[in-house]
Amino acid sequence: MNTNLSRRDCFGLAAIASNAVAAGDEASRARRMKWWHEAKFGMFIHWGLYSVLGRHEWVMEQEGIPVAEYEPLAKKFVPKPMPMREWAKLAKRAGMKYMVMTTKHHEGFCLFDSKLTSYCAPKQGAGRDLVKEYVESVRAEGLRVGFYHSLMDWHHPDGARCEKDEAARRRFVDYIHGQINELLTQYGKIDVLWYDVPWPLDAAGWESEKMNKMVFGLQPDIIVNNRNRLPGDFSTPEQRIEAAKGAAWEACMTMNDSWGYHAADDAWKSPKTVVRNLVTCARQGGNYLFNIGPKADGSIPADSVKILTAVGQWMDRNAATVRGADVCTVNRSNYCGFTRKGNTLYVHVHFWPGETVVVAGLTTKVKSAKLFASGKPVKFTQDDWRVKITGLPAAAPDNPVTVIALSPPVKVPPAWVYPRSPTVRAFPVACVIVPG
Ligand code: GLC
Repeated sequence: MNTNLSRRDCFGLAAIASNAVAAGDEASRARRMKWWHEAKFGMFIHWGLYSVLGRHEWVMEQEGIPVAEYEPLAKKFVPKPMPMREWAKLAKRAGMKYMVMTTKHHEGFCLFDSKLTSYCAPKQGAGRDLVKEYVESVRAEGLRVGFYHSLMDWHHPDGARCEKDEAARRRFVDYIHGQINELLTQYGKIDVLWYDVPWPLDAAGWESEKMNKMVFGLQPDIIVNNRNRLPGDFSTPEQRIEAAKGAAWEACMTMNDSWGYHAADDAWKSPKTVVRNLVTCARQGGNYLFNIGPKADGSIPADSVKILTAVGQWMDRNAATVRGADVCTVNRSNYCGFTRKGNTLYVHVHFWPGETVVVAGLTTKVKSAKLFASGKPVKFTQDDWRVKITGLPAAAPDNPVTVIALSPPVKVPPAWVYPRSPTVRAFPVACVIVPG
């Protein structure tokens, strides 16, 4: 095991600069990414031997556990049959459209059947191919299938020395390419390949162009991220929402502070925070990949189930305001988020102010306003400065976020593009409606 790794070494990946060609040409990318852009919301799953210890997926590194002491966990990792059915059902209930599971995390243990190592679930305690079960479960719910694969490996003897030893690099790169080949040939059509931590090699060292070429050769419809040090199809801001300029992006986030199961981590996000984050991603044209860290037996922590169930209930009523949303430039409010779909602007009120909701800076003429979930029309007035929605109930009609839909006159194309108004001069930082 390499003991010199630090989180800092391994983070900062989003900033990877590379002159290498992006994956595929633009037309191919638009075709491959269409479903993903529409989907907006996916489930990330971190599951591995660290789940047995329940102290975060970096426990091996952060507690300095030697390989020889960590390895026996592979015998103890014996999940109940098909726990992924529960995950996939929960993802679907939460309004998610795709799932991305760790096939191998940094610890090196493979959940799939690999001919290249015996450190894999079928040859250890589990005695079966957990990736196969996962793929079947995801497909059974009609969701898209994603594989996360960490390039970094704390278990493989060449995982660290490959940096300075060419023979080790050759072996290790062949090993990782070989595993990716296995993942993309053993389980039918795969929709997303999510590389992680390329430490300690650069794109040349990883032969990343060759890697992507192989991936697209095996799976012509797949999309790949940017963590093999090439731009890929989408970038991956982590634990933060930050739109990438001119490129697709997906914010990935934990539900508490850990990706892998951490029994004592109680820093849970509220359903409201999750919905607000999803809305923020959708407003800026991004996706939200939200994580669960199942226990070693495969069961999902009760808090995670509770949170995602509440999010799902909200999505049952409001998914249409997020899914397939267009980029929306309206963004100024202390109590609302915003999304836009075509001509309709959705005001997502997360701190309900009472009978009146006000949106400033809209120069678009509003023709009609309604509570989205119930379809109930609501009164409003509009002047140069603001839209005032009035006569609302004192308590929020929907939870954790109430959506109000504002529509302009049908014949006003294009959507929400209007001249500057005095509002803009009065509030220079207020939102200006510009083409989405
Ligand atoms: C970081 C962490 C890792 C996690 C990943 C998810 O790279 O090292 O534990 O899997 O982020 O994006």
